[in-house]
Amino acid sequence: MRVLAVGGGAREHAIVAALSRSGAEVYAALKNRNPGIARAAKESTFVDETDAAKVVEFAKANKVDLAVVGPEAPLEAGLADGLTAAGIPTASPSKEAARIETSKSFMRELMLKHRVDGAVRFAVTEDLAGVSEAIDDMGLEVVVKPTGLTGGKGVKVFGEHMMSKEDILAYAEEIFSNRIGGTPRVVVEEKLVGEEFTVQAFCDGRKVVPMPAVQDHKRAYEGDKGPNTGGMGSYSQKDGLLPFLKRDEYDRAVAIIQQAVDALRAEGCEYHGTLYGQFMVTKEGPKVIEFNARFGDPEAMNVLSLLTSDFSRVCLKMAGGGLSSSDVTFARKASVCKYVVPEGYGTKSLSGEEIKVDEAAISKEGALLYYASVNEKGGRIYTTTSRSVGVVGIAESIDEAESIAERALAHVSGRIAVRHDIGKTAMLEAKVRRMDSIRRGRA
Ligand code: AMP
Ligand code: GLY
Repeated sequence: MRVLAVGGGAREHAIVAALSRSGAEVYAALKNRNPGIARAAKESTFVDETDAAKVVEFAKANKVDLAVVGPEAPLEAGLADGLTAAGIPTASPSKEAARIETSKSFMRELMLKHRVDGAVRFAVTEDLAGVSEAIDDMGLEVVVKPTGLTGGKGVKVFGEHMMSKEDILAYAEEIFSNRIGGTPRVVVEEKLVGEEFTVQAFCDGRKVVPMPAVQDHKRAYEGDKGPNTGGMGSYSQKDGLLPFLKRDEYDRAVAIIQQAVDALRAEGCEYHGTLYGQFMVTKEGPKVIEFNARFGDPEAMNVLSLLTSDFSRVCLKMAGGGLSSSDVTFARKASVCKYVVPEGYGTKSLSGEEIKVDEAAISKEGALLYYASVNEKGGRIYTTTSRSVGVVGIAESIDEAESIAERALAHVSGRIAVRHDIGKTAMLEAKVRRMDSIRRGRA
């Protein structure tokens, strides 16, 4: 089968690796010279991924049988619609369905209208008076988000990034005047307290087949401190749960994803593709922080490295329907993914710097390697402003998987940063204790 894969990050390298494992011949459309994707693909075109017409032309010229889109920006630009109109089965959602990610106000309003569980109190507004009113109504314990896409970096949380009403108003004003996220509109929502987790599911418009839960780490610095980033690393547990996550909480999250897919269908925009739910386990159970219309990055590296069934077949069924739970199997193993990022990532990345990656040594450590937003020129690898490479350890326990990932990291060098705390036992135990005390109502 000939498959188009769009995007040039580590998530897309993991997608391409999973497609290749299932025997597909991959045609890649990406903006950066990702050496992992370029090597695995039969052919690559280096284009602006949001230029739907160009990508569709490349897909048609190569007579692909299936398409998978990695990042959200091309979905917002209507790429899945263009591919579908060209008769290519596409395992990614239409522009309309992708609004569940691309418009945070659409998502909150959809949940409210269709009484989807796990909703939070929120207000959508385009002026400071509206923000003030929301604070009068909800108190200062709120989060302020631009409604549009910001690559996971546009959210500010009271008590961390904003300390007073003035700070909240000042950030809202910044969003309005700089049109952060593309529109001068904000969502003010209730601040949730708990531990975050991700559940991703394969969806064929109706049926939802969930993947193991994963925990990402969005903050740039160790101890979950510092600015929000695209994600610094992630882990999953052998049984598909997480150390702090109980079976019924996971099940409730899956039910919320199913309700969201049903709500989209009721709105006339069936969801085909991977749907990503980010949740906070709170005292009252899981609540929705956001939905993404795609795999998570880094979470894709965890789940796709564990997928043992035929990914191309799953994608074909997501596109065309008929997906069943028996199409999807995962290895019963733990996984730990750690991202290598350029120095300064989160504030001001050092881009254009050479990094050295010893692929043979990483493979000898038993780890997997996924290239992210780097460029290969003349056999050398250079950073961009975004994340550089992900390493993944797979083992019986999170602890062993973490050691494998750490050993692999020793073979990447340059002006880089890494969060070594991700997946370490001390950090996991602290999360379990924190969650237990929140459940008991003491936090
Ligand atoms: P998002 O881009 O919506 O995923 O938000 C980025 C990060 O902001 C999340 O991973 C959370 O850590 C934090 N965040 C977003 N919404 C909330 C909320 N309602 N309550 C608490 N933290 C939040
Ligand atoms: N890991 C967060 C994201 O993909 O948005």
